[in-house]
Amino acid sequence: MLEVIHLSKSFGGFRAVSDVSFILRAGTITGLIGPNGAGKTTLFDTIAGRYRPTAGRISFLGQRIDGVAPHQIFREGLVRTFQIPRPFPAMTVLENVMLVPIEQAGERFWTNWIRRQTVRREELACRERAQEILAFMGLGALAGEFAANLSGGQQKLLELARVLMARPRLILLDEPGAGVNPTLLGTIMDKLKELNARGITFLVIEHNMDLIMTLCDPVLVMAQGKLLLEGTPAEVRCDTRVLDAYLGGVPT
Ligand SMILES: Nc1ncnc2c1ncn2[C@@H]1O[C@H](COP(=O)(O)OP(=O)(O)OP(=O)(O)O)[C@@H](O)[C@H]1O
Ligand SMILES: [Mg+2]
Repeated sequence: MLEVIHLSKSFGGFRAVSDVSFILRAGTITGLIGPNGAGKTTLFDTIAGRYRPTAGRISFLGQRIDGVAPHQIFREGLVRTFQIPRPFPAMTVLENVMLVPIEQAGERFWTNWIRRQTVRREELACRERAQEILAFMGLGALAGEFAANLSGGQQKLLELARVLMARPRLILLDEPGAGVNPTLLGTIMDKLKELNARGITFLVIEHNMDLIMTLCDPVLVMAQGKLLLEGTPAEVRCDTRVLDAYLGGVPT
C-alpha cells in the first residue's frame, strides 16, 4: 500500500529522518515506536505531504506522492491524525466532522447558483455521513457539544471521526492513546480493530506498549532518525537494540 524508499528529511543540518525504507502491506495495523525525538512524527509529516523529503521516494498505491500537496494526498485516501488534536474549539463536534473537505458540489463555486437542489442534497448527505461516523465512534450523544468541552480522549476519537469522512484507505495515527483514560483507550483500540476489519490499513505511532503489542503486527522501531528494525511484537520486545535505543544507546 505504501512504499518508503531511502527517505530523509533534514531541518537545516539536522537529519530528523535519515535514510528510512519500509513497505506497508495493505490490511495491516503496523506499529511505529521509538524514543522521544526519534523522528516518528516527522516521518508522518513527510509521508502526508507537510514536508517535502530532503531525499528519497514515497509511493502510495503505486503512485509517487513525495512532493504532492497534502490536500491532494488526503483526497487520494491517505490521511493522518495529529499528536495534539486540533479541533475547532468554538464549533460543535458535528460541525467539526462536517468541515472535512470531501467532494461536494457546494464547494464548486458555480454550482451554488446553478444547482441549489444538488447542493442541498449533498449537504444533507454530508450531515448524515457525519452523524453515522459519530455514532460509530461513540460520540453520537456529543454531536451538539462544543469541541472545546471534550476530554483529551474524546478529542482523539473526534480526530479519527474527522479523517473517516474522507473514506481513507490508509490512516496514520500519531499517538492515539496519549493522555487517554484506560476506558476510552479500550474504545479506541476496539474501533481501530473494527475499522481494520473493514479494510482500512493503519500505521500507528504509540508509546503505550499494551496498544502496540495487542494491535500491531509488524512493528517498526525508529531511533535517532533511523529505522532500527522491523519485527513481530514479540521479536521487538526481546530485541536488545530496542532496549538500548530507549536507554539512549546509539543505533549502529
Ligand atoms: N520543524 C522542525 N524544525 C526543526 N527540528 C525539528 C522540527 N520538527 C522536528 N524537529 C526535530 O526532529 C527530531 C524528531 O522530532 P519528531 O517530532 O519527529 O520526533 P518523535 O519521534 O515524533 O518524538 P515524540 O515521541 O516525542 O513525539 C527532534 O529532535 C525534533 O526536535
Ligand atoms: Mg511525535
